[in-house]
Amino acid sequence: MERAVLLLAVLLCGTLGAMAREHATIRPGEPWLDNRGQQIQAHGGGILQLGKLYYWFGEDRSPSNDPAMRYVACYSSTDLAHWHYRGQALALANPEGPERDFVLERPKVFYNAKTQRFVMYFHLDDRHYKLARVGIAVSDTVDGPYKYVRSFRPLGQESRDIGQFVDDDGSAYLIFESRPTHGFFIAKLSDDAMSVEKQMSLVHAPLEGGALVHLNGLYYAVGSHMTGWRPNPDVYATAPSLSGPWTEFRDIAPPEANTYGAQSTMLLKVAGTRATTVIFMADIWRPQQLWDSRYLWMPLEIRNGSLHLPAPQPWTLNVKTGEATLEHK
Ligand code: GAL
Repeated sequence: MERAVLLLAVLLCGTLGAMAREHATIRPGEPWLDNRGQQIQAHGGGILQLGKLYYWFGEDRSPSNDPAMRYVACYSSTDLAHWHYRGQALALANPEGPERDFVLERPKVFYNAKTQRFVMYFHLDDRHYKLARVGIAVSDTVDGPYKYVRSFRPLGQESRDIGQFVDDDGSAYLIFESRPTHGFFIAKLSDDAMSVEKQMSLVHAPLEGGALVHLNGLYYAVGSHMTGWRPNPDVYATAPSLSGPWTEFRDIAPPEANTYGAQSTMLLKVAGTRATTVIFMADIWRPQQLWDSRYLWMPLEIRNGSLHLPAPQPWTLNVKTGEATLEHK
């Protein structure tokens, strides 16, 4: 009898646990803790989905890090709310010179099916942001350690903020802001993802934090204006194909809200059994204490070519059904 009760209790806990994981609550702007109880260090980040697991990569700005190195942390999750720390996927000393002070920002990881390797792209720069290159690092396993390969200017262009996009057919693209052209590029990666091969679009809008999503036959591009760490009103445009033509840019939220203090980093599509949710992933930067920068993740309202970011509030996501529920609907 006792054993039966125990078994029932175990089963119930398991079921409740699984339900909790399916209906996980995301709280924009609040400290987001990992399984160790530490604030998640995945700033300017990106998500890679492999089967049922999501991997979140981003800038690790932990105060305990060696100041002469730059780090990319990796976390994994089944529900996009509870994150398990997997370690520092990349630890890099300045690959371009003797200066200890350099920039590694906005890391994004692609899985390349052809080589079965993981390729990490990041913005690599000197402390004055004059180098304007991308760096790449590779690993045979998703959480690294990634090995630095080289840096270059994609399509021969200056490149600062980068963004990642993988289309429904698996093709991989890099988005990069390029100051001399007053715009940003959408460019296809090579077959092995080790270089940037083909220009799809040069969008004539000087935007950073570039992100893309493909939904119901339309591409949506989101980005922020260029005000450094300070927030500004993010905007979006649409196009029927990655090579355009792109519409004019429009506000994603009331402009006076300044994107609720955040800056875009990625648009994540969660296609479930009942619905498809597109998550606006953004950073609320705290430049004086970058490690304490927060995350603003919210489900977007997207309808027939219009895109709207609702006011930040707690919300729950069911990754199985793809349904998102806002707390104050
Ligand atoms: C922002 C950019 C960040 C970082 C910052 C430095 O515009 O999006 O990734 O580079 O400038 O000031």
